[in-house]
Parts: sequence; C-alpha cells; structure tokens
Amino acid sequence: MIVRDATDDDLAAIVAIFNHAVRHTTAVFSTEEADREGRALWMRVRREAGFPVLVAEDGGGVAGFGSYGAFRAFPGYRLTVEHSVYVAPEAQRRGVGRMLMQALIEHAASAGLHVMVGGIDADNAASLALHRALGFEETGRMPQTAAKFGRWLTLVFMQLRLNDAAPPA
Ligand SMILES: CC(C)(COP(=O)(O)OP(=O)(O)OC[C@H]1O[C@@H](n2cnc3c(N)ncnc32)[C@H](O)[C@@H]1OP(=O)(O)O)[C@@H](O)C(=O)NCCC(=O)NCCS
Repeated sequence: MIVRDATDDDLAAIVAIFNHAVRHTTAVFSTEEADREGRALWMRVRREAGFPVLVAEDGGGVAGFGSYGAFRAFPGYRLTVEHSVYVAPEAQRRGVGRMLMQALIEHAASAGLHVMVGGIDADNAASLALHRALGFEETGRMPQTAAKFGRWLTLVFMQLRLNDAAPPA
C-alpha cells in the first residue's frame, strides 16, 4: 500500500468512493453526488491553494483518498484546516484510513499548520475511533445541525494540535 498525490487518472475512483458514501452513509452530510468535472475542479483548487489531495493505492487500484482545505475562510483561521478521508467499502479496516490520515497529518505539520479539524457524524463509530486512535480529541458536539435519510444528525468536531507554536502576530 502506498500513499501518493492524486492525479487526473484517479478521478473515476475518487468519484466512485465518494458517491458510495453519499448514497449509503452519513460520512458526508449531502445527497448530491459528485462527477468527474466537479472533482477535477475541486482537486485543482485545493492544489493551487497548497493543499494536498492524496490517494492510497494497493495492487487492486485506488483504495481511498484524503484531503484537507481551509476550515473557515477568515484570515484568523489560516493555520487551521478541515480534512476528509474516504476508504472504498471493500478496503475498509485494513489500515488504509490510518495511512491516509497519517500522511495528511505529516503534510499539515510540515506546512506549519497548527490545528486539524474533522467534522464527523456522532453515529460514525469507525471515523470517531480512527480519529481517537490518532490523538484527535472531541472539542465540539452540535445536535440536530444536519439531516439526512429522514433523521437529524449530530455533528462532532474532533481536532488535533500539530505543534506548540506561539500564535502568529
Ligand atoms: C472511517 C474510515 C475512513 C476508516 O478507515 P479504515 O481504513 O476502514 O480504518 P483503518 O483500518 O485504518 O482503522 C484504523 C483504526 O480506526 C478504528 N476503526 C476503523 N474502523 C473501525 C470500525 N468499523 N469500528 C471501530 N473502530 C474502527 C480502529 O481504531 C482502527 O485501528 P485497528 O484496526 O488497529 O483497531 C472508513 O471506514 C471510511 O472511509 N468510512 C466511510 C467514509 C467515512 O466515514 N469517512 C470519514 C468521514 S468523517
């Protein structure tokens, strides 16, 4: 298994993995499926902003992808990013999510960022456990702030501090 920068050749796999999560899970609070063009634009915009889009690849192709982007657009948040990670259903629980997350954390730490935030459905036990295993702490819980599949969802924020840097001027 390797983790590397995504290329346009990975877009079909990225779209398929993402759309499975849209259709069948509350990993993403959306019912809008992605398409190749939209994801190509998303990847270009992320890259131009200096943010990573990574894929994990094994012998069978792309097993998952991960990325991060600005947490909120205001300049005061510039050292905080919000990440996402998706693993193909057939590749889950084999360490792919952990590898992608570790690569994102390393990337963010090397970029001098201060905090990584994950926004997670309170019922997403796998994601909550993955984040806890990587040292993330729950720092926010917002009941009924989203809805999908006819039920209210609770958004849990988990965050990881990447360094002990003094605040920028
Ligand atoms: C959440 C997700 C990214 C985890 O990735 P994964 O490759 O399946 O997880 P890993 O095999 O790397 O697991 C790493 C650790 O996470 C935890 N974990 C992962 N899946 C778990 C599960 N189903 N139940 C409990 N803990 C789990 C465990 O601590 C695990 O370590 P262990 O296997 O040594 O016990 C994956 O299930 C996924 O893509 N789900 C759908 C999309 C999603 O929910 N994305 C996150 C949105 S916030």
